[in-house]
Amino acid sequence: MVTITKEKAKQLALMARESRKMAHAPHSGFHVGSALLTNDDKIYTGCNIENSSYSLTNCAERTALFKAVSEGEKAFKAIAVASDSPDFLPPCGACRQVIADLCGDIDVVMIDKEDAIKIIKISELLPMAFNADHIKREGL
Ligand code: THU
Repeated sequence: MVTITKEKAKQLALMARESRKMAHAPHSGFHVGSALLTNDDKIYTGCNIENSSYSLTNCAERTALFKAVSEGEKAFKAIAVASDSPDFLPPCGACRQVIADLCGDIDVVMIDKEDAIKIIKISELLPMAFNADHIKREGL
């Protein structure tokens, strides 16, 4: 069940789209933006940051999340993602894992070029996610 309001989702989606402008994507030319909503209604934005050693690229969603966590944020409601593509951009597999691990089952908001919005739970995008419970060990 989606928990974020339509108005908030729209605001996040538009902020994600705006954040694309900060993308550092000289290798793919694909600009991605993200906006992350905390439980107390603060918003952190992020963009993709590519690297000439390609695998070190950081996606927009992880940029937003790492910014927020590094500022002490621990609880989140939703994350939005927007790209150059005319269609909805779902988070990549790596970002799904990081979102599920750091945020729990939050709403993922996607926006297309017509401003249509699609909202889906991270648990639908990444069922049966690996998480901290799986590495609990006796005595620790
Ligand atoms: N990218 C993101 O920022 N988020 C995603 O969820 C998918 C991919 C970026 C990584 C890379 O800079 C570019 O898009 C092309 O893959």
